[in-house]
Parts: sequence; structure tokens; C-alpha cells
Amino acid sequence: ALAGVAPTPPLGWNSWQPYGCGVTEAQVKAQADALVSTGLRDAGYRYVVVDDCWNASTRTKDGALQSDSTRFPDGMSSLGEYLHQRGLKFGLYVGASDKTCTQYQGQYPGATGSRGVEQRDAATLAWWGVDYIKADWCSSNGDHDDQVAAFTAWRDAVRATGRPMVLSINPNSGVSGMPPGQRFDWGGVATMTRITNDIAASFASVLGIADVVGLVTPRTRADAFNDPDMLVVGQGLSAAQARTQMSLWAMMAAPLMIGTDLTRLSDAGLGVVGNQAMLAIDQNSRVVSGAPVAGDPQVWSRAIGPKGLAVSMTNRTSRNATVTVSLASLGLSGDGVVGVDVWTSKRYQAHDGVLSVQVAAGDTALLEIV
Ligand code: GLA
Repeated sequence: ALAGVAPTPPLGWNSWQPYGCGVTEAQVKAQADALVSTGLRDAGYRYVVVDDCWNASTRTKDGALQSDSTRFPDGMSSLGEYLHQRGLKFGLYVGASDKTCTQYQGQYPGATGSRGVEQRDAATLAWWGVDYIKADWCSSNGDHDDQVAAFTAWRDAVRATGRPMVLSINPNSGVSGMPPGQRFDWGGVATMTRITNDIAASFASVLGIADVVGLVTPRTRADAFNDPDMLVVGQGLSAAQARTQMSLWAMMAAPLMIGTDLTRLSDAGLGVVGNQAMLAIDQNSRVVSGAPVAGDPQVWSRAIGPKGLAVSMTNRTSRNATVTVSLASLGLSGDGVVGVDVWTSKRYQAHDGVLSVQVAAGDTALLEIV
């Protein structure tokens, strides 16, 4: 797709979950400051993505996109400078069909989608200093050829600007049947591709998205990631459930986009999203997606370069339980096998060819096999 822009999955923050259509420049700046003060920027969370509704409902007289002047009084190039001065990167949302998603749903006025004017809009965004484009598709038209044409036009338009930009696409909204992000491999077009409809702030939604990974596992590679959508940590998940989302997303080599108000995230929540050993798995230079082992959705394995292994053991039930996996199904053998949980630093040694771990309700042990 756009080679070299994202050798490992992009990490950052996105405005949609916390602020929706009310997003303002002041909020985005406060979140950028929080990324710096919490240490999350230095842990790798660099992209600050302003999602839908940043734009005015009409274009300029000569046809350029423009930002809402009330909520973004200083405008987009000033916001880009603010982020860049703090060592952050700037992301913006566009509609790849004729409307953005909220416009399509009648919740926001206007029709400022980019279909047919991708070159022009990519040039505007590049001029503003954008480093990451989230191109959404909200339309009753789910024709595959039309989607390929639209997203390919975005890829080519990004290339034509000469500015390195991540291209994050969602081909799924409004399209009936199996989501196109699952049906097709978009890795030739996009840096990252949403594989499902929107995540909801619930544990059931987190697990439901994780369950489709088996279908798309082989596609993930550098510059072409499966995107299981934003982190809902801080949005009603328990601490255990938050560890589960982070563990599974790291096992998928997924982009990690925080979807909460960072100024209100608890220290425990910050510790979960910023855990360095978890991030090292997500960002491992051997970019492959993990997948369930032997058909058990509670146990996943992922190769870690050059010859390591990570194993996640999730307790999906609502009571404490023992989760087990046979070494044979992991391709391992011998009683010397030990897993170290990145969340607790506890060591688990295999016995009689089985690794077994006590896991609290909703929690996950994310093991590095040593
Ligand atoms: C779609 C996307 C979401 C968000 C909204 C904004 O639903 O999937 O991630 O961007 O549009 O309207």
C-alpha cells in the first residue's frame, strides 16, 4: 500500500468515542497534552486523530474542505503545528463516499464527502500537515468495484502529495451482508483496514470482534494491518476486561487507538494501556497476527521474532477459572517451558505437557514463553 509509513501498528488517540460530533480544538489540545504528561506519547502513542464532524458542512467557494470555525477557531494547520511541536502526529477523518458517516445518517448537515475529489482533498490535508487519514465509507452503495475505486483513489492521492501519511480505511458502515473488511484483503490499498462494524463500549463487543480474527489472520503484515477498532478501555470495562482487550489487540498486531478522555483515565487504566511488555508484543518487528489455538477462543498464540512465542489465556466466564493449553498444540514440549505474564510478572511452568493458569473472571494472562 503506502510502503514504509507504518512498519509496526500505529498507536494513538481518537476523538470519536469520547467527544463524537461535539469535538473541539480545545479538547484535542488537552488530549495531546495528556498524551505527553502521562508518558503515553513516549510509550509510542503518537497519532492524535480528529474523527468525524471536524469539518464545516460546506466547502469553501472554490471547493476545498474547511474546518468548523466555531469548534476549531484556529483552524487545522495551526492544530497540526501544535501537535507536531509536541512530538505528536496529526490524523483527520474524511468520507470516502459522497458524505461523512454522520452526514449519511442525517445527524450532521452537509455532504462533504470526497468521492471524485480525492486528489484535491489529499492535497488540502497534506498542506495542513496531516500524517494519518481515516477514510470512512458510509453509503448504501456497497458495490465492491466502487469501493475499490474510491479507496484506491485515496491511496493514489496520498502518494501524489509526496507526504507520508497512514491511510486507515473502514469499508463496512452501511453495507449489508458480511463486512467488506472481512470479505476482501485491502492490504494493497490501505495501511489499516477495519474488519468489523463499530466497537461498542462493552466486553461482549470486544470478544465479538476478537472472534472474527481467525478469518483475517493471514493478511496482517507491515503497512497493512487488520484494524479491530478502537480501545474501549476507560469506557466501562473492568480492569480485568481492559487487560483482555489490550492482550487480544496486541496478539493481533493491531493498531491501538485510545478512545477515552485521558484526563480522566485512572492510574490503573493508564498502566494497562501503557504496559511496556504488552506494547512490545503489539509492536514486535515480526508483524504477524496471533490466532486461537486448536479452536479454543480463550487461548491464542502469536509468533514473536526471531523465534519466540506469546500466548494469551483469557477467562471469558464470570467466575475465576483455570485456563489450560497443551504444549503440543503450541508446538512446544518438555517441563522446562515457562510462561511469564506481562501483567503480573508471575511465572507459570508447564507440567505433564500442559500449561495451566488461574485467571480471574474476564481477565487475560498474556504470557511470554521463555
Ligand atoms: C463510522 C466509523 C466510526 C466513526 C463514525 C463517525 O461509524 O466506523 O469509527 O468514525 O463513523 O461518524
